[in-house]
Amino acid sequence: MSDWAADGEHGRGMVADAMLRGVTRGQGRWARRLRAGLGPAVVLATLSGPGAARAVADGVPPAFTQEQAERGQAAYRRYCQNCHGSRLDNGEFGGAPLNGQYFARHWGAGSVAGLYDYIRARMPADRPGRLSPQTYADLTAFLLSRNGYPPAGAELTPDAEEQQRMSLRRE
Ligand code: HEC
Repeated sequence: MSDWAADGEHGRGMVADAMLRGVTRGQGRWARRLRAGLGPAVVLATLSGPGAARAVADGVPPAFTQEQAERGQAAYRRYCQNCHGSRLDNGEFGGAPLNGQYFARHWGAGSVAGLYDYIRARMPADRPGRLSPQTYADLTAFLLSRNGYPPAGAELTPDAEEQQRMSLRRE
């Protein structure tokens, strides 16, 4: 059970309302932080630039292990599930879907580095950047496995150059 859920449904509703009001009015530390970085749309625009497209065109498939994805799942439950939900698309507090068409549209044309960098820089949204590079790599492995990418023989590391070579294109 999360801390936020400790007050029961009533408490949850109030927290959600307060956050929604904060986001709508564009006030509060949380809303400012969410706006502070690049939005997914901007990330997409960057990735679809000619340079980026070429960089991942001759890429290799993402590498991560099943065991790593399971570690990532444990971290997900602890740090992400409040906002993104147990099924990755049933979250609260404005957490975007992390699977299906939504994920494919946002991340499927880029590299593993794009996804990893976004998560590391901006998530968890209420305290971004607070987890270790290894945990962010494990979380990335978990999201990849939940989006149908098969595990491979080697773990995903936080190494930026390695990640940039790993393409999320499926063709
Ligand atoms: C406090 C709530 C909250 C927590 C906790 C949280 N997120 Fe998020 N997350 C959001 C919100 C809100 C968005 C949408 C941000 C935006 O559109 O700018 C988002 C967006 C994302 C996206 C981009 C989705 C897309 O395609 O647009 C990813 C990936 C993501 N989160 C991963 C994670 C991971 C991994 C964790 C755990 C380490 C996590 N989030 C924890 C609220 C949260």
